[in-house]
Amino acid sequence: SMRLIVDADPGIDDALALYYLKARADIEIVAIGTVHGNVPVRQATANALRLAERLGIDAPVAMGAARPLAQPLKTAEDVHGPDGLGGYAGDEPQRSHTTESAAEQIARLARKNPQELDLLAIGPLTNVALALQIEPNLPNLINRTVVMGGALNVPGNITSHAEANFWHDPEAADLVLDAGFEDLTIVGLDVTMANHAPGEWLDALPNTNYVRQILGFYADFYGSFLGKSGFVPHDPLAAAILLEPDLATYVEDRFAIELTGTYTRGKLVADQRFLAEGSPFGRDIGTTRSKAKYAVSADGARFLDQL
Ligand code: BDR
Ligand code: CA
Repeated sequence: SMRLIVDADPGIDDALALYYLKARADIEIVAIGTVHGNVPVRQATANALRLAERLGIDAPVAMGAARPLAQPLKTAEDVHGPDGLGGYAGDEPQRSHTTESAAEQIARLARKNPQELDLLAIGPLTNVALALQIEPNLPNLINRTVVMGGALNVPGNITSHAEANFWHDPEAADLVLDAGFEDLTIVGLDVTMANHAPGEWLDALPNTNYVRQILGFYADFYGSFLGKSGFVPHDPLAAAILLEPDLATYVEDRFAIELTGTYTRGKLVADQRFLAEGSPFGRDIGTTRSKAKYAVSADGARFLDQL
């Protein structure tokens, strides 16, 4: 069965992704790493530990990067609540995080289990970028990698052009996208926004249900973002696409992150032009960057049914 490392910034939809993964008998979460993003990393770590306890996930939890590679920390409590779990984080966790960093954990596990582990990154990519510094051969040691991030041909969700995970650490995302990962899939807003969950999805859960409780804050944010009731399960869709690649269709391309734009810093870009053989126009993104797959459509009914 599939064995994976989850790197996350819980985060309400991160929490839902852990629920989704825990419910899947066909996978094993080998380790969890946390990262700054939705909330500061200490809070993300406490939340990961709380969720692991609540869900009975025994995997070690390593605390990751507290800040982006090259910019100040920015968090998103307006989307996920002051505690990152919509006000329902609750008591302090009983368990504690391990002593190695999340980046060290990724590098160590990848070396020990070459080409056996999958990586699901549903927060900013700082830890993965740091793991590449520790182990430059990481792209050949990881089996499949699925990253949640980017808005290619749709508006961003944190600025008009940038999606939150890539915006939180653009330099890290750019490094990871060009690191040569063997099998890299990007699940961005093009496919998550198009497959949002309707308000009825939440209404079907009893008031006492913890998922319903934590999703309330998130649904309030996304209700106003979508203009109708509902929420966007970004991270669960990335998890589902890792487990079942045929849930989505993809374009293959070379990707970069805009690092210098006045309005576009953090935006995912690709040269999507069709250029005929011998065309005088060069490729903007270059021909040597790593290739990745970007999800462009998904079977939303099948996914939401699973969720
Ligand atoms: C991503 O950013 C965070 O708010 C979510 O947890 C998700 O990983 C969506 O843009
Ligand atoms: Ca996340």
